Amino acid sequence: MKNKGGSLARRVLIINGSTRENGNTDAILSSFIRGVSASGLAVRNAMLRNLVIHNCIGCCQCLREKTCHFQDDMSDLRDAITKSDILVFASPIYWCEITGLLKTFIDRLYFFHHKENNHLIAGKKAVIITTLGEKDTDYEAQVLVEFYKRCMRSLGIDILDMLFFAELMDQDAITSKPEYLKQAFDAGKHLVDSL
Ligand SMILES: Cc1cc2nc3c(=O)[nH]c(=O)nc-3n(C[C@H](O)[C@H](O)[C@H](O)COP(=O)(O)O)c2cc1C
Repeated sequence: MKNKGGSLARRVLIINGSTRENGNTDAILSSFIRGVSASGLAVRNAMLRNLVIHNCIGCCQCLREKTCHFQDDMSDLRDAITKSDILVFASPIYWCEITGLLKTFIDRLYFFHHKENNHLIAGKKAVIITTLGEKDTDYEAQVLVEFYKRCMRSLGIDILDMLFFAELMDQDAITSKPEYLKQAFDAGKHLVDSL
C-alpha cells in the first residue's frame, strides 16, 4: 500500500484481544483506527476472537528449528508483525491481566526468541490499550503493566504509550464516555509523530 507521495505507507497492526463483539474495546479501537487512518498510516485490526491460534504447547520447536509446530492464523500474523512499524496490543483487564486470547497470542511470540528470528520483531514500537471495569486504574493495572514491560523488553519492543480507559464494566458503558472516543481518535492520529 502506497501513500499519496508514492512511498510505502508505514503500517500499524492492532491485535485486539477482546472477547466481546461490539464492546468497549471494539468501540475504542474503532475511534483509534479512524485517527490512524486520518494520519495516512496503513492499519489492520486483527481480531483474535475470529482467528484460530492454538495454545503454545511448550515443544520449543521454535527455539530449536526456528519454526512453529502449528500452522494456524499465527503464521499470517507473524508475517504482518514483521511488516509493521507499530504493534498495538489491546485488551480488557481480566483478573488483573489481559484476556486469555491475547495471552495465547503473546505466548506464541516465543518464536521471536530464536536468535535468527528476533530481528523480525526487535526495534518495533508498541502501544498498549487497556479497558477496565473498575475506577482505580493504578491498582487494577499494576500486574498488567509489569507484565507488558517485561514481555516487550524481552522481545526488544519499545513501548511508546499505555492508554487506560476505566469504568467500562457493561458492554455499552462506552456510550456514557464520549471523551474516551475522542482520546482514542487523537492518540491514533498522533501515532505518526512517533515514527
Ligand atoms: C472475566 C472478567 C474479569 C474481569 N476482571 C477485571 C479486573 O480485574 N479489573 C477490572 O477493572 N475489570 C475487570 N473486568 C471488567 C472488564 O475489564 C471490562 O468490562 C471491559 O470494559 C471489558 O471490555 P469489552 O467491553 O471489550 O469486553 C473483568 C471482566 C471479566 C468478564
